[in-house]
Amino acid sequence: MITRRTLVASAALAATVKPALLGGTPVRTKRWPTWPVTNQVEEQEILGALRSGRWGRGTGKLVERFEEAYATLTGTKHCLAVANGTSALITSLNALGIGAGDEVIVPPYTFIATINSVLLQHALPVFVDTDRETFQIDASKVEAAITPETRALLPVHMGGASFDVGKMLEISRRRNIPLIEDAAQAHLGEWRNRKVGSYGLAGCFSFQASKNLNSGEGGAIISSDEAFIEKCFTFHNNGRSRKVMTASFTYQSTGANLRLTEFQAAILTAQMTRLEEQSRRREMNAAYLTSQLSGIAGMTPQKLYPGCTRNAWHLYMFRYQPEAFAGLTRERFIAAMRAEGIPVSSGYSPLNREPFLENVLNSRGFRRIYGEKRLAQWREKNQTPQNDQLCQEALWLTQTMLLDTREGMDQIVEAVRKVQKAAGPLTQAA
Ligand SMILES: Cc1ncc(COP(=O)(O)O)c(C=O)c1O
Repeated sequence: MITRRTLVASAALAATVKPALLGGTPVRTKRWPTWPVTNQVEEQEILGALRSGRWGRGTGKLVERFEEAYATLTGTKHCLAVANGTSALITSLNALGIGAGDEVIVPPYTFIATINSVLLQHALPVFVDTDRETFQIDASKVEAAITPETRALLPVHMGGASFDVGKMLEISRRRNIPLIEDAAQAHLGEWRNRKVGSYGLAGCFSFQASKNLNSGEGGAIISSDEAFIEKCFTFHNNGRSRKVMTASFTYQSTGANLRLTEFQAAILTAQMTRLEEQSRRREMNAAYLTSQLSGIAGMTPQKLYPGCTRNAWHLYMFRYQPEAFAGLTRERFIAAMRAEGIPVSSGYSPLNREPFLENVLNSRGFRRIYGEKRLAQWREKNQTPQNDQLCQEALWLTQTMLLDTREGMDQIVEAVRKVQKAAGPLTQAA
């Protein structure tokens, strides 16, 4: 029998679960932590750079000071600061002499800069499918993609977690193909208790504004190979080696001006004072979030390889299964979460299917270099079904959200549960 009391109770339940997207009260209205975090440390450093009157690395000492500190932090012998992460990749590929006709192994699940750095050399990016569980390149499929033209392996530590460094290094050594780690998102990330970026011939970092260590724009290459880093230096300095930096107009190679400024180095030095503490907070919150989300049907947090002893948590990535949400589409789930005050996003699209790639392959230069037959083979091999699926189901939270309190993590979980309960009405109202 339906009593007045049961009617009141069910009305109350409906009110609490009424999703914000359908006019209910949002789980969170408070702002998420803002980024970047700064205080008087940055102010003093910047003022110091400003007043020194030495604003470029030719005369200043701040870029060098940062390079030494970052090499120490990452446990490598050498660090070269550059203008941004894209320049770090381009410089590394140039130092390896990679160019027209060469192939570079890349993941399709990454930021476009990884791919562009290869295309800008007029080299061919060869896409290897993703391990959907970890969001990383599937190392077990790399070997099959290697050809006599493969000149580098360029995997990415996606989101700040490590790709399978053990397997990639083994392939790199056995096949004698240099490993360049795209660690743009992985500051302080570790594989077997050693910093990522320090395993390959080079590790490339980005200090762009969204990154866990940032100076608005900026980047670095770390390496323990002195000859390699000197080639990088020369390239990033318009082809002028360290020795002739200010002394004479002589040139050792081609190059570009990809130097970091003293202002950026000043900010990076200040930002580094908080990096460890912020990373710990992210780790703590991410671990809690995973423990909670794992218990909700339809939510699958990113798995880590056992060798990943520290995730830099640039992104908190997980997968969404609509079947557990009454068929609610991912796009509608995202809209519902956003209305609840949780800015979740869908992440990358499959880069190997980007229409612009075809424009590049059909360009005069590429057709001349590769010819129709080789390009047809490339198209045929360019199959990444796991990645295609991942791009349909991925969800991301940003590193800044992980800097919030435990309450913030609880609100994320509460919002997911709320949307799940209201999935039926949310689907119908779509
Ligand atoms: C994986 C990856 N590689 C390369 C880059 C390029 O770095 P930047 O934006 O500093 O050029 C980024 C930056 O977002 C990145 O996430």
